[in-house]
Amino acid sequence: MDNYEKIDRLKKEKDAVILAHYYVDGAVQEAADFVGDSYALAKKAAAVSQQNILFAGVSFMGESAKLLNPDKHVYMVDRCAGCKMADMADADGVRRIKEQYPDAAVVCYVNSTAAVKAVSDVCVTSSNAVRVVRRLKEEQIYFVPDAHLAQFVAREVSEKEFIFHNGYCPVHKELAKEELLHAKEEHPHALVLAHPECREEILSAADFVGSTADIIRFAGENAAEEFLIATETGVFHQLKKENPGKRFYPVAAGQVCPDMKLVTLEKMLAVLEHLEEQEEIVLDDKLMEQAKKPLERMLVLAE
Ligand code: 13P
Ligand code: SF4
Repeated sequence: MDNYEKIDRLKKEKDAVILAHYYVDGAVQEAADFVGDSYALAKKAAAVSQQNILFAGVSFMGESAKLLNPDKHVYMVDRCAGCKMADMADADGVRRIKEQYPDAAVVCYVNSTAAVKAVSDVCVTSSNAVRVVRRLKEEQIYFVPDAHLAQFVAREVSEKEFIFHNGYCPVHKELAKEELLHAKEEHPHALVLAHPECREEILSAADFVGSTADIIRFAGENAAEEFLIATETGVFHQLKKENPGKRFYPVAAGQVCPDMKLVTLEKMLAVLEHLEEQEEIVLDDKLMEQAKKPLERMLVLAE
């Protein structure tokens, strides 16, 4: 029996569902019941029927699953897999800004801790941020933690006033215009598809900006045959799988999230084998009650 067959058997035996993000290794994505961007994963987590959710992703994704479906047991393939950007904001800092700007809506990127969500008005993901912010009645928006996504949303929703936090994703921030220009010289016919966590100098040179799922959808629907991809290289698995005749190139060599790469097939199998002994995600009751509200509001406003 190979690892996939063992995982499949254990999933059924233990009433578990595996949810994976597009940034984990292709081999891990292949073992999942559902692969998606952060928004699709949150919606899926809220609706699964199995008693146990095993998350192949980083900690904020598992926390969101727990918040949206509190009766389920949520486990991570690797509990050490976190998000560097999520760690760049804390609840006290958000409270201070709220005092300074009492009329502002606190819009919190889903890449954030449960404590930050608990003091926010609404959550967003990269695929729904523009839509959700447009639908808010407040004219002033405090967007935490990602400054680059916030600036992208601010350009799209220019009628509102934005207060920015100084968080960023180290993987996307690394990408520089010179690297993109060089990559374009090497692949002159390629369209550039970028994630909104990239800096403005990348986004302004892109042919399309969107979440991981949006990028995969765009590449499938567009007639072009070559694409330069400005996001984490985990997405190449689905891009190539869904478009075997098309070619995909990274903009630069460093588009790898070390935390996402902590998630491996071998660890997934080991966690499933000993699921009962694993530490599940546990959040304080009061924190759960407060932190789930902005996530649930996102699900309503994003539709
Ligand atoms: P998506 O919401 O596009 O899947 O992005 C999640 C993420 O962590 C980006 O770095
Ligand atoms: Fe966080 Fe960046 Fe990794 Fe996404 S790619 S999980 S934003 S550190």
